[in-house]
Amino acid sequence: MKVSDRISNVEYAIRDITVHARQYEKSGRKIIYLNIGDPVKYDFPTPDHIKKALVHAVLGNFNYYADSEGILELRQAIVKKESQKGLSIIVDDVLVTNGISEGLDMVAASIVEPNSEVLMPGPYYPPYASYVKFYGGKPIEFKLTEDGEPDLDDIKSKITPQARALCIINPNNPTGEVFNSKNLKQLIDIAAEHDMYIICDEIYDKLIFDQEFTGIGKVSKDAPVILLNGFSKVYLMTGWRCGYICMNSDCQKLENIRNNIPKLARVRIAANLPVQKAAIAALEGPQDYIAETVSKLKKRRDLVVKRLNEIDGISCKLPNGAFYTFPKILRSIWKDDKDFVLDLLNKTGILTVHGSGFGEYGKGHFRIVYLPNEQVLGEAMDKLTHFINNSENQN
Ligand SMILES: Cc1ncc(COP(=O)(O)O)c(C=O)c1O
Repeated sequence: MKVSDRISNVEYAIRDITVHARQYEKSGRKIIYLNIGDPVKYDFPTPDHIKKALVHAVLGNFNYYADSEGILELRQAIVKKESQKGLSIIVDDVLVTNGISEGLDMVAASIVEPNSEVLMPGPYYPPYASYVKFYGGKPIEFKLTEDGEPDLDDIKSKITPQARALCIINPNNPTGEVFNSKNLKQLIDIAAEHDMYIICDEIYDKLIFDQEFTGIGKVSKDAPVILLNGFSKVYLMTGWRCGYICMNSDCQKLENIRNNIPKLARVRIAANLPVQKAAIAALEGPQDYIAETVSKLKKRRDLVVKRLNEIDGISCKLPNGAFYTFPKILRSIWKDDKDFVLDLLNKTGILTVHGSGFGEYGKGHFRIVYLPNEQVLGEAMDKLTHFINNSENQN
């Protein structure tokens, strides 16, 4: 029986690649998973005070449907966090979702129409393009310079009357690059000039290494900023699915979406109530584990980037945030980056993600998640080095 064209075109490279890994595992061989950005699966467990808050909520019978917008106390805590980062918001401008993923779906559903164009950095986190396409729109990738800055001429040359929104993913996934305040200001000015929404994702806002993080709210003034954020990465709650949408209170132009998006929240009833209670504990409880996470990640990043750059045939930039590296494949032995990733998997058991899964500008790269401990990462880097050196010999 027929399914919609819409659904048959949906892709998600990060998870789609695991189908090949399962095949490999069936042969009894061990896989080193460097493909999914889930810290909780490695040695970054959900902090105890957050786990206890969840258990407490369940035992306290907070197991019913919550308000569709999210519970007041959590929305107040979100206002506090995002105001400290510079965004001008009040409780009415916050909508709690089952992860950013659901928030992104709601935002795309609210603003994308057939043939609408949505600009996004190349490479980008794949669901941004998937949801835009799903609602009949076109993702338009803009170039980043060698230094990871947005290429303003490229963006301007790609704006058409169909352009509806500009996405900023800061820090970015898959590159780990962080935009500074100058970059953010430039993007906001371009979006404002062309009457585009600014959809900004700050899910890695506290996983930053060598520079200060600037929240979009610090520079957005009254621009139409829709901020997406969540609890998966910084607060180590991936499996619990909690996130939120915030609208810049100072922006009159957001009035329509502010009035309409809650309808979608009501149709899907509510976000998970006990998890919302735990999210309050995440925002209001101890925060010291975040610095520990960052320091552990930094050591792992440094190890992986150093080892990658020692391989003749790979080059890798130093990412400033999140937990990904996005090395470039310098040899042309493989048909394309997916062929490289599958060959690497079949010969070594290392599972990464092909760069083209993150858009046109991802071609010729692959993404490594450096969440495993140093021993596992060291083993993976030994295998990768051997694989590249050997591939060269065969050529
Ligand atoms: C940039 C970015 N946004 C959103 C998500 C998913 O967020 P959530 O778990 O809140 O749905 C991810 C997950 O990898 C991500 O990298």
